[in-house]
Amino acid sequence: MQITVGIITISDRAAAGEYSDLGGPALKEAAEKYGWQVLSEAVIPDEISRIQETVRAFADQGCGLILATGGTGIAARDVTPEAIRAVMRVELPGFGETMRRESMKITPNAILSRSLAAVVERSLILALPGKPSGAVECLSFVAGAIPHAVALAQRVPTSC
Ligand code: MTE
Repeated sequence: MQITVGIITISDRAAAGEYSDLGGPALKEAAEKYGWQVLSEAVIPDEISRIQETVRAFADQGCGLILATGGTGIAARDVTPEAIRAVMRVELPGFGETMRRESMKITPNAILSRSLAAVVERSLILALPGKPSGAVECLSFVAGAIPHAVALAQRVPTSC
């Protein structure tokens, strides 16, 4: 199964052009190394409505996997988890737990990230830290579970 990917950089300063986006390109390179196909990319500010609109647009475009970077911490404008939780069907807590546990072996600051994974519509979304190396590291810690999670997310939920 070909995994199709959308990448969202969530950063006020990158969206305003105050600095160039490094996280999006770093995730694109990582995604391609995993053999996934990157369909869409966006750089948007830390605003709940923009995050939700972009996630939904990428899900509607057929991105089975959406990788978001930034806004997972505790700064006043960090709202990525809140934006995703308001539109998700289910959260997958094991992804956030694993990303933090493994990242803590690299930096104690990893405990500050509220990284998560969730299913929105029929897409798996990962909210990764904003630092490019941190985003790529966190992706690597959970990459093994992504193909199966993406396949399950694409199945229409059944009621039983
Ligand atoms: N995780 C890894 N693997 N590597 C990192 O360098 N940085 C941390 C953390 N997670 C980091 C990491 C830091 S310093 C912060 S503040 C939080 O992610 C939140 O980052 P964000 O607000 O840019 O998403």
